[in-house]
Amino acid sequence: MIEADEMSDDEALVAPAAKNDEARFEIGLRPAALQDFVGQEDLKNSLTIFMGAAKKRGAPLEHVLLYGNPGLGKTTLAHIIGGEMGAKVKVTSGPALERVGDLAAILTNLEAGDVLFIDEIHRMNHAIEEVLYPAMEDFALDLVVGKGPSARTLRLDLAPFTIIGATTRLSMLSAPLRDRFGTTYHLDFYTDEEIGRIMARSAGILGVQLASGAAARIASRARRTPRIANRLLKRVRDYAEILHDGLITEKVADAALDLLAIDPLGLDNVDRHLLTTIIEKFAGGPVGLTTLAAATQEEMATIEEIYEPFLLQIGFLERTPRGRTATERAYTHLGFDYPQT
Ligand SMILES: Nc1ncnc2c1ncn2[C@@H]1O[C@H](COP(=O)(O)OP(=O)(O)OP(=O)(O)O)[C@@H](O)[C@H]1O
Ligand SMILES: [Mg+2]
Repeated sequence: MIEADEMSDDEALVAPAAKNDEARFEIGLRPAALQDFVGQEDLKNSLTIFMGAAKKRGAPLEHVLLYGNPGLGKTTLAHIIGGEMGAKVKVTSGPALERVGDLAAILTNLEAGDVLFIDEIHRMNHAIEEVLYPAMEDFALDLVVGKGPSARTLRLDLAPFTIIGATTRLSMLSAPLRDRFGTTYHLDFYTDEEIGRIMARSAGILGVQLASGAAARIASRARRTPRIANRLLKRVRDYAEILHDGLITEKVADAALDLLAIDPLGLDNVDRHLLTTIIEKFAGGPVGLTTLAAATQEEMATIEEIYEPFLLQIGFLERTPRGRTATERAYTHLGFDYPQT
């Protein structure tokens, strides 16, 4: 994972991960009810049934695993689920749980029906994961008391609770942990129309004047990611306030985004540099990640976690066993002739 503070401001503009100073801004824009959570219709329908059934039984919700790219709404959804279930939500994360005792303390303090949200659950260490298994399965905590031959395990009962785990990397989760979740939901990239609705909602909360058509202009450049949409809205608002009395028209939006060097598809200079390098220096690929990183002087993790998922999603890149290949659409978008073979 790349830490936001390692990146320059401009690089971070299209990065789906949250920037350091973004948390407070985002909390204000976070929908609190499922009906205000835009898009992900299948997920919402399934979740509504799943929550309704648990409520009807008077039981806590089974454990839920949420996975998807950064900025698509996992944390938001975890809080919405907690709220809809009338539960208290306690928050921790894989990397924050350093010792078994940390987790034991959290678990023993949970009350019946509470939700424990574990963000970045794929980054939990193995010893802690093992403590979680009986806790998730039997609401029990197995503690080892004493040392050496006289060591015994002591089983403590826990109140029935719900774990909501979030991860950007499902494949890094061990199979036994994955199996202990009652349901797993995948958050998809959003359509431009949905991103437009999210932005209109955010504009309302922030008191930003968006002229008709302007939301769509910004939405098409937000890489199908709500976090990036809200971030771009904020930047365009600043631009509009200083140069245009605050009203965001289509023209103002375009001018602001051009200034930020984000093109009509949401690609920035780094995306274009990556694709141009593959096309010009490697005849369109395939080129391995290490070679590409060296040729572009970008970090491998930056390419893999920030740029590539979206370029794959819009069909500009293909990932083959021998490396990355630029597609015909990428050639066309960047104004290159696609080699006919
Ligand atoms: N479906 C949605 N409707 C409205 N706003 C959304 C939606 N999804 C995300 N957002 C907004 O986008 C921002 C980022 O969402 P969130 O923090 O939940 O993403 P995340 O998946 O947890 O990201 P990360 O992997 O970095 O933790 C929040 O401000 C939230 O309000
Ligand atoms: Mg999150």
